[in-house]
Amino acid sequence: MRLPSHVRIVEVGPRDGLQNEKTDIGTAAKIELIDRLSQTGLASIEATAFVSPKWVPQMADAAQVLAGITRVPGISYPVLVPNEQGYERARAAGAEEVAVFTAASEAFNIKNTNAGIDASLQRFAPVLARAKIDGVKVRGYVSTVLGCPYQGEVPLNDVVRVARALHDMGCYEVSLGDTIGVGTPAKARAMLKAVASEVPMAALAIHFHDTYGQALANVLACLEEGVAVVDSAVSGAGGCPYAKGASGNVASEDVVYMLHGLGIHTGIDLPLLAETGRWLAGLLGRDTGSKVGRALGAA
Ligand code: HMG
Ligand code: MG
Repeated sequence: MRLPSHVRIVEVGPRDGLQNEKTDIGTAAKIELIDRLSQTGLASIEATAFVSPKWVPQMADAAQVLAGITRVPGISYPVLVPNEQGYERARAAGAEEVAVFTAASEAFNIKNTNAGIDASLQRFAPVLARAKIDGVKVRGYVSTVLGCPYQGEVPLNDVVRVARALHDMGCYEVSLGDTIGVGTPAKARAMLKAVASEVPMAALAIHFHDTYGQALANVLACLEEGVAVVDSAVSGAGGCPYAKGASGNVASEDVVYMLHGLGIHTGIDLPLLAETGRWLAGLLGRDTGSKVGRALGAA
């Protein structure tokens, strides 16, 4: 076991969470969510996505959201961009960090972005080139790293190839996404190990959806391999519009509680984060999806 002493949480609730919620909480509440999250000690908050509003209508107000938030110095607010047009929109709205996304499964990537994996990587080349000139940091996502809703099994070699391609292109961090939450700990560990043989562990993050209730166990297995960046969504909100039945990300509150229990620092004020999660759940018309959030709310 070589657990990290500090873990950076990348809070993806405002993007990954809200992109698939049926209830539209409205632009003002999205802004309030990010502003509340900015007070909890989080260092990275994925704010929104400059994708096609025809594909993901929930993110149509990306520019207003980014313009409306109060940016706290020291916090980064990455936004998703699928192509150069998204990059231009994001920059016009003041984005200083972006994230590009592709998949290890060809079929999923076509459903998600209307392009095969290699074509999507080609789309990113001008984004990375412009970002370099502009001094914009670029994160990269690989989806379907532990299974695909269309293809089923995803060979490890495909995950490694795509993660490496993103890193070689200049992504400072590559986030490995179990989009449909089918992974189990030994598989998650083996996947991370395989990727880390080609991409430095310090440049890797993990991104688990909790469809089968395995996310927290998968996070722990990957922490034991040395990963120190974890994506999660407050209140466990969300899912994926191109993966039917997929649950939201592992809840940030649950991850932070586990990390603190392991003696790992996050810099996050857990009660405040949990309160934010319950507030968001109220807006979505349901109970929080975080067990820790529920327990702290009852205490
Ligand atoms: P396309 O239809 O092939 O795009 O979609 P196109 O280039 O042919 O353009 C068609 C129209 O879209 C044009 O408008 C463009 O202007 C417009 P029209 O002339 O018809 O009026 N368009 C845009 N508008 C706004 N912003 C843009 C943009 N680009 C084109 N950036 C495209 C291709 C990639 C745009 C589309 O498929 C898309 O937006 N996909 C995004 C899907 C998405 O957001 N999925 C969820 C995020 S990924 C995820 O959740 C996984 C992750 O969490 C990790 C994990 O869990 O695994 C990251
Ligand atoms: Mg996701």
